[in-house]
Amino acid sequence: MTHTIREATADDAGRLADLASVTFPLACPPGSSPADIAAHLANTLSEENFRAYVADPEVTVLVIDADAGLRGYSMLVDRETRDPDVAAALTLLPSVELSKCYVHPEHHGLGAAAELIHATLGSAAATGAGGIWLGVNSQNAKAIRFYEKSGFRKVGTKSFKLGTTVEHDFVMERPLP
Ligand SMILES: CC(C)(COP(=O)(O)OP(=O)(O)OC[C@H]1O[C@@H](n2cnc3c(N)ncnc32)[C@H](O)[C@@H]1OP(=O)(O)O)[C@@H](O)C(=O)NCCC(=O)NCCS
Repeated sequence: MTHTIREATADDAGRLADLASVTFPLACPPGSSPADIAAHLANTLSEENFRAYVADPEVTVLVIDADAGLRGYSMLVDRETRDPDVAAALTLLPSVELSKCYVHPEHHGLGAAAELIHATLGSAAATGAGGIWLGVNSQNAKAIRFYEKSGFRKVGTKSFKLGTTVEHDFVMERPLP
């Protein structure tokens, strides 16, 4: 795949929403309600939401831009967490949140995610933070393995509301260079 990894712009918002509609369901545990997934896509991962994320000075969205279109994206949020469970778990402060990390399924297992996380860690380090953290569904073994390979370790748990269902996430963190 010929591609570049670059910061997203407002022009990417529609394509990011399309990509999110393919990749978000892959991060949900089996048995998640299609209605809950659809509501999350509409309320959090819409074109309008992506336009706002890209415009937010505390948010960095990176995309894998390939001939076939956007093939992956990550989102960093550089502000203090309001989640008390996360705040209690983190040991490397200040810490940037890796809020989203998704690769199109046609590119899983091929190294694209490693390149994306490498670039994302570079952006996170540039903020001057000491650590980076994320929440990942406790049933998402593939992503947990990927994050462990990328230097993250489990430091706690938190809850995540998908529609009306409360999901359990692991909190993971790693130091930044
Ligand atoms: C998470 C994601 C970015 C990782 O990218 P990837 O290209 O699949 O990652 P890799 O192939 O490098 O690593 C995945 C690892 O999980 C392993 N794995 C795959 N399926 C697995 C499973 N069901 N259980 C446990 N491990 C699994 C792979 O073997 C690999 O480990 P290895 O290199 O030791 O063999 C990508 O899978 C993705 O976008 N998933 C859907 C969205 C998602 O879940 N995002 C994370 C939200 S927090």
